[in-house]
Amino acid sequence: MFIIKKGISLKEYNTFGIDVSSTYYVEAGTIEKISFAANFAAYNEVPIMVLGGGSNTLFTGNYNGMVLRPTVRGIALAEDMPREVLLRVGAGVRWDALVEFCVSKGLYGLENLSGIPGDVGGAAVQNIGAYGAEVSERIAKVEGLNIALRTPLALSSEECAFGYRDSIFKRELRGSAIITHVCFKLSKSPDFRLDYGDLRARVEAQGEPTLVNVRQAVLDIRAEKLPNPQQLGNAGSFFKNPVVSAARHDELLAQYADMPSHTLDDGTVKLHAAWLIDQCGWKGKRVGNCGVHANQALVLVNHGGATGSEIAQLANDIKQSVSERFAIELEPEVTLV
Ligand code: EPU
Repeated sequence: MFIIKKGISLKEYNTFGIDVSSTYYVEAGTIEKISFAANFAAYNEVPIMVLGGGSNTLFTGNYNGMVLRPTVRGIALAEDMPREVLLRVGAGVRWDALVEFCVSKGLYGLENLSGIPGDVGGAAVQNIGAYGAEVSERIAKVEGLNIALRTPLALSSEECAFGYRDSIFKRELRGSAIITHVCFKLSKSPDFRLDYGDLRARVEAQGEPTLVNVRQAVLDIRAEKLPNPQQLGNAGSFFKNPVVSAARHDELLAQYADMPSHTLDDGTVKLHAAWLIDQCGWKGKRVGNCGVHANQALVLVNHGGATGSEIAQLANDIKQSVSERFAIELEPEVTLV
């Protein structure tokens, strides 16, 4: 069934649970249906916004345009090589269903990214990352449709210009590309990355490192810190972790000796926004219907009935206190619409 719905609530389609509507909403599971929807939007002269699992979007008002959810399904073996496989996966496959599939088939590379909400297409757009891994390391190719040019799209990993929670789909191709498939290169033999935080200790507490044990350890750590969006509306980390120069880091360290950080390959230093927000006293604070999660200061939550503008206001207030105290400008990771 292919229906273009008019004026429906998007509450079920964004993990913050914000009750807004869009002019049109459509789920399209094939390239033909996506093209049809794109033509419909062009004919009606409305913009298109692609929404995957809605786990990284904050709606601050109704959307005057078409919200299109690509529901392309399927996980196919595209190439079987001696040490690796190439999987071609529909953009509408739930991200964690893919990770679970890989773990069950003995395919290595995505296990650290267990439990992240959202769909496969969104994972590529956002270059999701957690526990020392980023999805871009495993993406070989992204396929889709350029709705501005009405041409098929096939981008190599390099062409996707992946960065920290960033890609060409958030920049040059924003609003004009619709991802239909993502191809992942996965290893047939162990290739574990366990050096983030206490991940190794958590895995070893369960026994030998195996795909199942690593997935379980990651799911356990996430469950302790991150609220389940089905119980408490949220979009994971609201801000990106800021990066500062080594000199600025030294200055900060002289003042705040216990400030956690991570030096990057180019010598710059990534700080933890959660720590900065926590230091400003926001952790666990409630403001009206929204607030800051009690176990992870980087996560803003909807306690029920919050509007997008209320959450955006809270984010602004947080940003301002971090700026006043540390002279660091936090940038949202979540896309505000
Ligand atoms: N910390 C605090 N207070 C807090 C939480 C954390 O001070 O309330 C400090 C602690 O010192 C901790 C450090 O911050 O050691 C790092 O915390 P955590 O391991 O939870 O990681 P994070 O930097 O806050 C990032 C990602 C998460 C990802 C985790 C684990 C970003 C913006 N966030 O958070 O990604 O799950 O690392 O790898 O990069 C997301 O993108 O939505 C997301 C949840």
